[in-house]
Amino acid sequence: MSEIVVKVENLYKEIEGRKILKGVSFEVRKGEIFSIIGGSGSGKTSITKHIIGLWKPTSGRVEVFGKEVPKLSLREMDELRKNIGYVFQEGALFDSLKVWENVGFYFLEHTNMRREEIRKIALEKLRLVDLEEDVMDLMPSELSGGMRKRVSIARAIATNPQLIIYDEPTSGLDPITSRVIDRLILQLRERTGTTAIVVTHDMISAFTISDRLMVVKKGEIVAMGTPEEVLKSDDPFIQEFIGDMKDCLAKGSEVSN
Ligand SMILES: Nc1ncnc2c1ncn2[C@@H]1O[C@H](COP(=O)(O)OP(=O)(O)OP(=O)(O)O)[C@@H](O)[C@H]1O
Ligand SMILES: [Mg+2]
Repeated sequence: MSEIVVKVENLYKEIEGRKILKGVSFEVRKGEIFSIIGGSGSGKTSITKHIIGLWKPTSGRVEVFGKEVPKLSLREMDELRKNIGYVFQEGALFDSLKVWENVGFYFLEHTNMRREEIRKIALEKLRLVDLEEDVMDLMPSELSGGMRKRVSIARAIATNPQLIIYDEPTSGLDPITSRVIDRLILQLRERTGTTAIVVTHDMISAFTISDRLMVVKKGEIVAMGTPEEVLKSDDPFIQEFIGDMKDCLAKGSEVSN
């Protein structure tokens, strides 16, 4: 049995009397690509906020790399965040910084490393997402949506995190670019062995890149397992939610390793 990177047990979150998460439990193993899918407002992003320690559970346990996140000291929390790459929805790049400064942001902010050294790391990470030296000095506004997404992935992997959380990595992208990002997520796992949690609305993405996935509805897990297992579920919500996916997958996916 492989190492467990994230372990969430009976997680409840209530904000101002509203129950946002209602007893969520799951584990993510080392090297796994684990997707969280579900309708808007179902609680997907809220789950990831507990994993990176932005939110404390109302009750329940959240363990990452074997440590209880709500109990971490400030220093341990910094270490945790260094070990988790977070790819924000919409990329969230710093508009006033060049591409390489965005990718090397952590080192510019938290270390005394020379700019030349940081540029080198940035280039190495940009190459991992199939970008080249010519984008280093561009501003985010000069990039296409797909390139921006790649740069934000390069930034998320800059510190060699053991876990990457992608929040809607394909949102706002055309279907072809979305499949390119899917392939990139798979390649990164192959090249670096990094564990990935992918929050997505994109059913094709979820069912083609995930080792396992879970479906969240109104703060509760309604299905979890391999793509095949989840597709077999007869829960009406899942059937409706995945809709045409079955036909689409039956015809064979374009995405491969
Ligand atoms: N800071 C907050 N304060 C109060 N309620 C919040 C807060 N953030 C999220 N919520 C509520 O928690 C619920 C779950 O939100 P969450 O952002 O986790 O959904 P999601 O599944 O990520 O949705 P989407 O697919 O639209 O991103 C929603 O009802 C939302 O209104
Ligand atoms: Mg969200």
